[in-house]
Amino acid sequence: MKMGAAAGQLLLFSGKGIMTTQILPADAPEAAAVAARWIRAGELVAIPTETVYGLGANALDPAAVDKIFTAKGRPSDNPLILHLTGAGQIADYCRDVPEIAYVLAEKFWPGPLTMVLCASDTVPKRTTGGLSTVAVRCPESAVTREIIRLAGVPIAAPSANLSGKPSTTTAAHVYHDHAGKIPLIIDGGPCRVGVESTIVDLTECPPRLLRPGGITPAQLREVLGELVIDRAVTAQLAPGEVAKAPGMKYRHYAPAEPVIIVSGSREAAARYIRAHFAPGDRVLCFEEELPLYAGCAPLAYGKEADAATLSHGLFAALRELDSAQIPHVYARCPVGEGIAYAVQNRLKKAAGFCIVDAEAAL
Ligand code: TXA
Ligand code: MG
Repeated sequence: MKMGAAAGQLLLFSGKGIMTTQILPADAPEAAAVAARWIRAGELVAIPTETVYGLGANALDPAAVDKIFTAKGRPSDNPLILHLTGAGQIADYCRDVPEIAYVLAEKFWPGPLTMVLCASDTVPKRTTGGLSTVAVRCPESAVTREIIRLAGVPIAAPSANLSGKPSTTTAAHVYHDHAGKIPLIIDGGPCRVGVESTIVDLTECPPRLLRPGGITPAQLREVLGELVIDRAVTAQLAPGEVAKAPGMKYRHYAPAEPVIIVSGSREAAARYIRAHFAPGDRVLCFEEELPLYAGCAPLAYGKEADAATLSHGLFAALRELDSAQIPHVYARCPVGEGIAYAVQNRLKKAAGFCIVDAEAAL
């Protein structure tokens, strides 16, 4: 295979043909129109959102949706989220929509909230992974909503990472994973939130939180009253246990090497990690802790005192640490119920729920 580079582009010449991956800044005047053309042509476009970059396709075209599963290496039973321009489109793709869905949309859209509703027949089973429900959300990014509007179809978009790997929060991450496989990446800069949207299932009563994200359980409870937290959010599912969000049953967000979360006070954790640290290991910690890990190759992903910086930096840090050359990563995980709750969930999944209590272990 030969490779030729041009500004912002990678050309791959292979026996299977040539695919040029173009990166267009979100503020380029033609960005939305070019992206919408590719979507209408049944191709994949990487789209920026406030949560993570998505790998988008026409949600109503099973052949286009197939390309998402192939590009990501995603299991075919894992359904996709439909990205809409607003609440006005919900009724086009969902049936028996409860009034509360519109109340939530009014309060949190555009924004990092996904709602699971009953799917109408307009949504192909390929998109819903065979389920009778469908997940819908309206992203904050103006260019992405304009792409959906111009394409005239909802865009199905999972996080643009390769399946199982840490999510993509910059255009460079998407380029790393998909250069030569997709025609276009719209570069909207680093994602504001940095972890995927909150998913709430409204087909159950009381509603169920399937994935924590930028909209917190407390914010949801203010509107919903009661909210059940799905077990997959906080614990490893037993073999054979059915996940309400099929994606939650897979190993996820994980770098190549084992990640061990070390909980407990700052001092206890540092004592434990320094005692177990071996050459080549890495430490993923809070900025405030950097001085405690001199000589242990620490990487800070944000400030413990400001959980939004942790969600913003988590996936870039996990991607930086994604290397089979690293024997172990010792990770510090925030406590708390706001956006920290979503960071905990992603980090625990990246660690396969391997958590050591430093206070008890010392
Ligand atoms: O922030 C986000 O939601 C990003 C951006 C691109 O919008 N998208 C995203 O998609 O995170 P993905 O495919 O990586 O995660 C979607 C999750 C999966 O765990 C999937 O199983 C679940 O949503 N899901 C999708 N449709 C569902 C449904 N009908 N019922 C239950 N879970 C569903
Ligand atoms: Mg994902």
